[in-house]
Amino acid sequence: MKMPVALVWLLAFTILLIRGEGNNAICKENFKLDPRPHSVSILEFGAVGDGKTLNTLAFQNAIFYLKSFADKGGAQLYVPPGKWLTGSFNLTSHLTLFLEKGATILASPDPSHWDIVSPLPSYGRGIELPGKRYRSLINGDNLIDVVITGENGTFDGQGAAWWEWLETGSLNYSRPHIIEFVSSKHILISNLTFLNAPSINIHPVYCSQIHIRKVLIETSVDSPYVLGVAPDSSDNVCIEDSTINVGHDAVSLKSGWDQYGIHYGRPTTAVHIRNLSLKSPTGAGISFGSEMSGGISDVTVERLNIQSSHVGVAFRTTRGRGGYIRNITISDVDLTSVDTAIVANGHTGSHPDDKFDRDALPVVTHIVLRNFTGVDIGLAGNLIGIGESPFTSICLADIHLQTHSDSWICSNVSGFSDDVSPKPCQELMSSQSSCFAGGSIYGGDAAAQSYYSW
Ligand SMILES: *[C@@H]1O[C@H](CO)[C@@H](O)[C@H](O)[C@H]1NC(C)=O
Ligand SMILES: *[C@@H]1O[C@H](CO)[C@@H](O)[C@H](O)[C@H]1NC(C)=O
Ligand SMILES: *[C@@H]1O[C@H](CO)[C@@H](O)[C@H](O)[C@H]1NC(C)=O
Ligand SMILES: *[C@@H]1O[C@H](CO)[C@@H](O)[C@H](O)[C@H]1NC(C)=O
Ligand SMILES: *[C@@H]1O[C@H](CO)[C@@H](O)[C@H](O)[C@H]1NC(C)=O
Ligand SMILES: *[C@@H]1O[C@H](CO)[C@@H](O)[C@H](O)[C@H]1NC(C)=O
Ligand SMILES: *[C@@H]1O[C@H](CO)[C@@H](O)[C@H](O)[C@H]1NC(C)=O
Ligand SMILES: *[C@@H]1O[C@H](CO)[C@@H](O)[C@H](O)[C@H]1NC(C)=O
Repeated sequence: MKMPVALVWLLAFTILLIRGEGNNAICKENFKLDPRPHSVSILEFGAVGDGKTLNTLAFQNAIFYLKSFADKGGAQLYVPPGKWLTGSFNLTSHLTLFLEKGATILASPDPSHWDIVSPLPSYGRGIELPGKRYRSLINGDNLIDVVITGENGTFDGQGAAWWEWLETGSLNYSRPHIIEFVSSKHILISNLTFLNAPSINIHPVYCSQIHIRKVLIETSVDSPYVLGVAPDSSDNVCIEDSTINVGHDAVSLKSGWDQYGIHYGRPTTAVHIRNLSLKSPTGAGISFGSEMSGGISDVTVERLNIQSSHVGVAFRTTRGRGGYIRNITISDVDLTSVDTAIVANGHTGSHPDDKFDRDALPVVTHIVLRNFTGVDIGLAGNLIGIGESPFTSICLADIHLQTHSDSWICSNVSGFSDDVSPKPCQELMSSQSSCFAGGSIYGGDAAAQSYYSW
């Protein structure tokens, strides 16, 4: 029996909807927002909010004091209106860091106010320079139950100096981020504004249960390689209801770099991203990789508005990465003024050192892109897989882009498309079975299961 193609899609999507939640539970997870039983103001630790006095010690002392409340329901550190200049400091478990309306935490632009720390094991070195890296402004290491929130208080990374040092080659270590959590879980970041990050704005790595909502992230257009939110080797991540305008990728999912990431082996998985407004003049609205050696899977993205960007959605990898990008569904995307709507490239990204394994080939498969509309788009798609590891089951449905060029660029890629304009390349017009039963990633036995999941 041969069903019309559109009907097959309809059935598949209906099944997906009926089968329910998928990643929906991730964003619904209830985070503890009860007021903490104890609260102290940073003023009690001698901080001065004049934008000039260095408050690193006040923050460190406050956190040290609040550690003793961890087993008493936790505590809140209250930051009143003012400009609070500080170097990097650590958080502690069962803590709420609350930034009042009009409170700005200003990152010191003096590198001597930032500790130097070892590289992450899944990267083996700093991302920009070999060797060590600067500790981030706000750090959480091995923590549980941390809330960073406020009435739209601000973190200002004062990144301009760092951008210049990167561009002039005068950095001594890789640049710091604004917030980094390592090996932590149950983290909520909400109701905040992030400005001028030196490098990544929010970087959860080896984390679980991360919820980021209602944040505004703004970094100047000419901030080199500044990322908005970068979930890295982390699972159960929700990013929602936010606006991110940065120099490079607004949201970037990662999981380690070549042999270091393969060895560490921790994927980014179970991610739900929804309702974001993104802008990235030199990068992508959302990207996967290029560092993806621990694998990236089971990601649901919906309701994106991507404007004035170089790329809309990007999948990036290269030989030597190993790992995989699979089972990614992106739907309901509005694109305006974007050079290339969809990019998948198997030849992007450098290597940490020359010890990477050329035979570690990444796998990119089961990518579903559905319900995209676009105006003022240069190129609809540029999909270049790897000869020895072509990208497979790239499935496009209901995609309508007003483009300046009618062609797609495709090589070493296969998949299926339905109701896509401009008309995609031949490689994306194979049978729909490549998107469903036939394309099981878990082998023959699981074929039926994967049919119903996709
Ligand atoms: C694909 O990912 C979704 C979440 O986005 C998950 O619910 C589903 O089980 C995954 N399918 C397979 C076959 O792993
Ligand atoms: C911050 O945390 C790191 C790693 O957990 C630790 O090595 C460092 O000493 C801490 N710094 C302070 C000031 O507590
Ligand atoms: C938060 O503050 C920023 C400026 O710091 C402002 O642009 C933004 O509109 C504010 N957001 C809300 C929800 O008030
Ligand atoms: C890098 O180190 C050199 C030598 O110690 C120092 O003069 C320079 O200021 C440092 N650069 C930065 C950006 O910290
Ligand atoms: C954020 O702000 C909104 C509106 O002010 C408020 O309803 C909400 O409880 C705040 N907190 C979080 C975590 O969203
Ligand atoms: C989507 O996010 C915006 C903030 O960027 C928020 O104002 C709006 O309420 C969100 N929409 C829904 C349906 O949650
Ligand atoms: C397609 O996406 C748009 C937002 O870009 C949304 O308004 C619309 O409801 C979606 N259509 C379907 C059929 O889901
Ligand atoms: C696939 O990739 C290989 C190696 O990069 C290249 O030689 C070949 O031309 C590509 N195939 C197509 C159809 O472009």
